[in-house]
Amino acid sequence: MSIYRKIEESQTLLINNQSKNLEGLQKKVFKFGFGQSPFLPPVQVMEALKANVHRKEYGSVQGDPELRQLISDFHFKVNGLKVAADNVMIAPGSKILIYTILLSFKKADVFIPAPAWVSYAPQAKLAGHNIIPVGTSFAKRWRVTPESMENAFAKKKHEVSIMILNYPGNPDGLTYSKPELEQIAKKARELDILVIADEIYGLLSHNNEHHSFANFYPEKTITTTGLSKWCGAGGWRLGVALLYEGIEDEFKKALIGIASETYSCAATPIQMAAKVAYGNVENALEFSRRQCHILAKVGNYCYHELVQSGVKLYPPEGGFYLFPDFSNYIEKLNKAGIYTSSDLCERILSETGVALLPGSAFGMDENQFTARLSYVDFEDPLQKTDFKLERDCPKMIEGIQALKNWLALL
Ligand SMILES: Cc1ncc(COP(=O)(O)O)c(C=O)c1O
Repeated sequence: MSIYRKIEESQTLLINNQSKNLEGLQKKVFKFGFGQSPFLPPVQVMEALKANVHRKEYGSVQGDPELRQLISDFHFKVNGLKVAADNVMIAPGSKILIYTILLSFKKADVFIPAPAWVSYAPQAKLAGHNIIPVGTSFAKRWRVTPESMENAFAKKKHEVSIMILNYPGNPDGLTYSKPELEQIAKKARELDILVIADEIYGLLSHNNEHHSFANFYPEKTITTTGLSKWCGAGGWRLGVALLYEGIEDEFKKALIGIASETYSCAATPIQMAAKVAYGNVENALEFSRRQCHILAKVGNYCYHELVQSGVKLYPPEGGFYLFPDFSNYIEKLNKAGIYTSSDLCERILSETGVALLPGSAFGMDENQFTARLSYVDFEDPLQKTDFKLERDCPKMIEGIQALKNWLALL
């Protein structure tokens, strides 16, 4: 028996390494596995970071008070959320904030939709919680419904229930309508569930419309967001949690306590740059609109091409992912010796150079033949006066065509 915790390197980072190895062998790789924004942060935000390199001091654990106020104002204007600056928490990424929230509870049932982002389940496991998957299906657009919540809830073992709801979604690229959110909120209220609404892609909703879950369930929703996606600054590590009004004292103390004993604070120069990012709502919205215009074009190109090949897929609604379902190819795949979503992605990578992440990394059954495709293998086109898919995203086109040819030859 090993004395170590069994926790594997995050699959998203792993595929990036495998792709790099292939590139090292001079093979062309289409990097549709790793989801990182292709866009540079706005110039004035980068300038602010440069101007603040001398800010070497530790900051407050909860985050710079002025920045917390700006974030509070920002999400009021953009999402209609009323969160006092005192209930804003800033950290080096929203990932560590989700983990901090989970760690604040001694024992909980954590309801995680399948498919969902790769890190929720490992984080819940590390925090010692009981993971209960919330089933979804292609027919239901991979969405959580009151019925699926109810079914999952029947397996509840502990007093505390936490559900993580992420939209626009990673890995599915889909979002929820207002009526859907209202229904989920109603059920969450009935079942007394703490909801972590992971809205990190909220500003990348392609039609520029995003309804925050906390508007429907204000009493027990913590919204997580940050600079990683809409501001193109994943590596800067700035995440935000918007706590709910009237949050229990003990809970908040646990959050701040864990933060103070682990990451201490977000980097001070990054927080200074974040003041510029959050300080001008119009600039932020305009920047998001320009990205969404491009992302929608690229995502829809991939969607239309793959659907033509018989892949089951929904048109993208936000962020930069698609979640193709290859189950129409099941017989052909089996004949080719492919029995799992991991086999599928390995074979596609080695035979076409197209890197995808298997659905199993997102909590799906291995035999379901799903995968995540990130459509961001292109250079930032925002500095150009216009956007042309053929000119600006040649690798997206080549990679999608390679995937289609591979399917045709099965
Ligand atoms: C759904 C989802 N949630 C959270 C994160 C983490 O973001 P951050 O960079 O703020 O830690 C990611 C990053 O890939 C993500 O895709």
